Amino acid sequence: MERIPISGPWITEKEIAYVTDAVTNAWYANANSYHARFEQAFAAYIGVHHAISLPSCTSAIHLSLLSLGIGPGDEVIVPDITWIASAAPVSYVGATPVFADVDRETWCLSASSFEACLTPRTKAVIPVDLYGNVSDMDAIRGVALANRVAIVEDAAQAIGSEFKGRKAGSFGDTGVFSFHGSKTLTTGEGGMLVTDRDDIFRRALVLRDHGRQPGDTMFFNAEVAYKYKMSSLQAALGLAQLERIEELVARKREIFSWYQQHLASLDRLQMNHEATGTRNTFWMVTVILDPRMGLRKETVMAQMNERGIQCRPFFHPLSSLPAYNHSEQARMARERNRTSYRLSPYGVNLPSGLNMTQSKVKFVCDALKEILNRRVLTRASREEVP
Ligand SMILES: Cc1ncc(COP(=O)(O)O)c(C=O)c1O
Repeated sequence: MERIPISGPWITEKEIAYVTDAVTNAWYANANSYHARFEQAFAAYIGVHHAISLPSCTSAIHLSLLSLGIGPGDEVIVPDITWIASAAPVSYVGATPVFADVDRETWCLSASSFEACLTPRTKAVIPVDLYGNVSDMDAIRGVALANRVAIVEDAAQAIGSEFKGRKAGSFGDTGVFSFHGSKTLTTGEGGMLVTDRDDIFRRALVLRDHGRQPGDTMFFNAEVAYKYKMSSLQAALGLAQLERIEELVARKREIFSWYQQHLASLDRLQMNHEATGTRNTFWMVTVILDPRMGLRKETVMAQMNERGIQCRPFFHPLSSLPAYNHSEQARMARERNRTSYRLSPYGVNLPSGLNMTQSKVKFVCDALKEILNRRVLTRASREEVP
């Protein structure tokens, strides 16, 4: 039986041609030609002035925080529901992550929880565009601007998504993207930092190249910094994917619509939300089961796995992870973040790779329905026993 993987890219002859060209020609005087083309095209697509290609989105968040001057003694607010990469760089720079709750519909950072978490030490917020959705950027920006808090928009999962006609990733002091192999646009591994701020752009360029000025040929380092660069082969792959971005996004949306169609008969499911004025690119099609069914994500994943279907757990609240056991902020978050703790145990990501077909989606949905129906029947028959 062929297994259905959780995620994966869509690679065509175009990508193969660009990478072949890069490995053949992108050396000597042409060594940076694909970086320049990828970065310019990316900035134009997102609608910002600057884009810097990087080895990962994690490094883009790290450079964002460093360029904003964030360090020990500062607090940075992150949503409790996200991949740890959104928060880990806060610790890299010696600052403290503060875990705010998420909105029950969008599953992105709740503006009211963000506001409630502010202290005089808050220097930045990292709203995360979860699973391809976009946070309510009017509300988040309102709170941030009123309190002089910088925004690093984590659009790792949301290339092509929009809020009121503007692209995800363009709402902050910086925006960051991931091109990991599971993402809608992939370079295998890779990332991008975008910004409209010239000062951040200049600072990030120095920090990502061992503390030397761009164009320095004397190997003269003004400070100890980092080596965060993408290879030209990755940049070539990224450029080819970017030139196909609308096709990739349209396929993601189509996959979601197939799931919607095949799961329409189930009324005890919450799926990815798309608010009016938002374009969700549905990086991961996700279902949250009604807790009253008593089926936790681990059980559903195990049963789907038995049927050859790979699923992923909805993110665990960061504040629940052993990584943050020592943290007083995590203890407070565990008491405060009701929505995160209500959603997470019952959330499952369904296969969302760009190679999904309607018949595979139907197979996944039939399996899920069978698991849910069996649960309902087992419970019903148990309840009949006197
Ligand atoms: C929300 C979020 N932020 C950051 C990252 C980090 O991306 P990368 O793996 O490219 O460092 C990811 C990766 O999956 C992510 O999902």
